[in-house]
Amino acid sequence: MKVSIIGAGYVGMVTGVGLASKGYNIICVERLQNKINRIKQGKSGLYEKNLDELLSKFVDNKFEITSDIDYAVKNSDITIVCVGTYSKEDGSIDLSQIEDVARNLGIALKSKSSYHTVVIKSTVVPTTTRNIVIPILERNSGKKSGYDFGVSVNPEFLREGHAIEDFVNPDRIVIGELDNQNNTALEDLYQPFNSKIIKTSLETAEMIKYASNTFLGLLISYSNELADICESVGVDISSVFDGLYHDRRISPKIGNEKVFPEILSYLSPGPGFGGSCLPKDISALVKFAEALGHDPKMMKAIIEINNNRPMRIVDLLESELKELKDRTITILGSAFKPDTDDIRASPSIDIIKILISKGSKIKLYDPVAMENTKQLLNDSIIYSESLEDSLKGSDACILVTAWDEFKSITPDMMKNLMKTPLILDSRRFLNTKEFEGKVKFIGVRLGK
Ligand code: UDX
Repeated sequence: MKVSIIGAGYVGMVTGVGLASKGYNIICVERLQNKINRIKQGKSGLYEKNLDELLSKFVDNKFEITSDIDYAVKNSDITIVCVGTYSKEDGSIDLSQIEDVARNLGIALKSKSSYHTVVIKSTVVPTTTRNIVIPILERNSGKKSGYDFGVSVNPEFLREGHAIEDFVNPDRIVIGELDNQNNTALEDLYQPFNSKIIKTSLETAEMIKYASNTFLGLLISYSNELADICESVGVDISSVFDGLYHDRRISPKIGNEKVFPEILSYLSPGPGFGGSCLPKDISALVKFAEALGHDPKMMKAIIEINNNRPMRIVDLLESELKELKDRTITILGSAFKPDTDDIRASPSIDIIKILISKGSKIKLYDPVAMENTKQLLNDSIIYSESLEDSLKGSDACILVTAWDEFKSITPDMMKNLMKTPLILDSRRFLNTKEFEGKVKFIGVRLGK
């Protein structure tokens, strides 16, 4: 089976090289010429573990890049749409890119004689594929979906920083299909993955993606709300969660071992969630539900609690320092999480902006996201060369991103370099005991 992919962004590139690594020939379509030129050199332009290594390996043989969508459709059996879906100003989903692609795909399908399958991998709100994408494809091709060509929805569950591993070794593959479609192309494509395949309707597949990301956001906002209450009564939420986790319904015993599922790592108070998916998807679901006449109170609360987190972190620091004006504050980490250079919707950026508005001077250090941050914040802050450099002469330090490198901070390092050795560990990432009694240590869930 030959595969074409539309969009050489994050999802498209990972899908392309992931499928190439399973032996498929890929034609990837990208409209930006500079991106095409870069990819031809084996450079994705993305910070993602193993991506460029695999791309370099496949680019001259199994992975072709072009701007010609017609050529890609003619020379493949299945097209996977991986273009971005952004947010409009009000938080609702912007489908303009997906509509453009559907139009061009429809035109390409018009002159294709053999059966072709179109797969929507981009995240779209439920009913988008049936009510928007399919009518555009049919109008522009003059053909009938389900009979002349197939349409499926196949959401991605790729974590930035672990995307190749998630793609090649998935927990589940969700395939949403038209009822009248007797087409196994996508199932066949995923045969080499040996993974659980969940076959369902188009709308259910679309909804599974939103349900998954909303669930992650829900856990984080729940932890943050609970942490605030705990703090007011001097309770350390870590101990509360320890009590919660041992419930056998959460951590079953397998053999003699208690198993603590990985999902529990999202029950973690901190500066709030960020990235290119969770904030955007939860907002899109809220707007979608409202348009249907619902009042999605819980989804709105997830966002509201999250939006308040950066201010909450600044408040914690302010209550310690009293005055933030003219203070030099070190910010450790601008990426929304470790193992990525992505600063989209990063809580760190919000914390920095609030501190600047209060008159603080910011020194930032992030192991990989400095370039992206410079492009966004220009010369409004100081960019440090190293962890040590960032601590020099500062009045306080806030650890925002849980990069492993930050584990090397010690009380001595703080005392030697900082004006006042004070650290606010917004993720409780460091070992509290190493710092307490030696320097001023504030952790979001210490309950003090
Ligand atoms: C997310 C989903 O995990 C993925 O399945 C989906 O396809 C795309 O969106 P990603 O945006 O890379 O992936 O972020 P993720 O690793 O899930 O992190 C989201 C937020 O949760 C971040 O703010 C991060 O700091 C936080 N997080 C992440 C935790 O609190 N605990 C963790 O263990 C991991």
